[in-house]
Amino acid sequence: MSNKIVRKLAALTSIIFALVFLGMQFVPASTPQASATTGPHMAQVINPQVGAILDRSCQDCHSGRTTWPWYSRVAPVSWIVSRHVREGREVLDFTDWAHQPDLADEPMLICDAVSDGSMPLHDYTLIHRKAKLSKRDVDSICGWAAAASSPISLLQDSKLTK
Ligand code: HEC
Repeated sequence: MSNKIVRKLAALTSIIFALVFLGMQFVPASTPQASATTGPHMAQVINPQVGAILDRSCQDCHSGRTTWPWYSRVAPVSWIVSRHVREGREVLDFTDWAHQPDLADEPMLICDAVSDGSMPLHDYTLIHRKAKLSKRDVDSICGWAAAASSPISLLQDSKLTK
């Protein structure tokens, strides 16, 4: 092929890519991307130290307090991010947590998820380096979870709520 044809093909390819990219912007993400500054801070709901870790590393996907950076509004990233947030809130939503005291198993589920490294999601910590958990963070979370699901603390919770 002559150089001219190669250059034309390259130009055509970039135009097609640009059009597809623009077209994608018309396909909305599935979760409304409202930045909410309302809703509880976990640091105020549970033990402040552990709450602060959950606020830092988990609230974007597991609460109504999601921060949507600019790239989270650009397709196809917007589709992925909004699916993570929707599915994350479905399984665990800190906003409900503050209102609903009967969450006896959840602290242990949280401890499991951070101990085996499945949470926070790896794609997320690639970009949000500060969300990465240290060994100490994991230990604090699991210490809190063990105390929160001990029979004595469950008894105290039920006394408080009745
Ligand atoms: C980037 C979004 C995102 C972040 C950040 C995130 N999660 Fe998740 N989380 C999800 C999604 C999506 C699911 C459901 C699908 C799955 O399990 O992969 C989930 C599931 C869970 C579950 C259910 C059990 C399980 O392992 O599937 C727990 C518990 C959990 N997350 C805890 C946490 C905790 C604790 C943090 C912070 C240390 C955190 N998550 C941070 C998106 C996220």
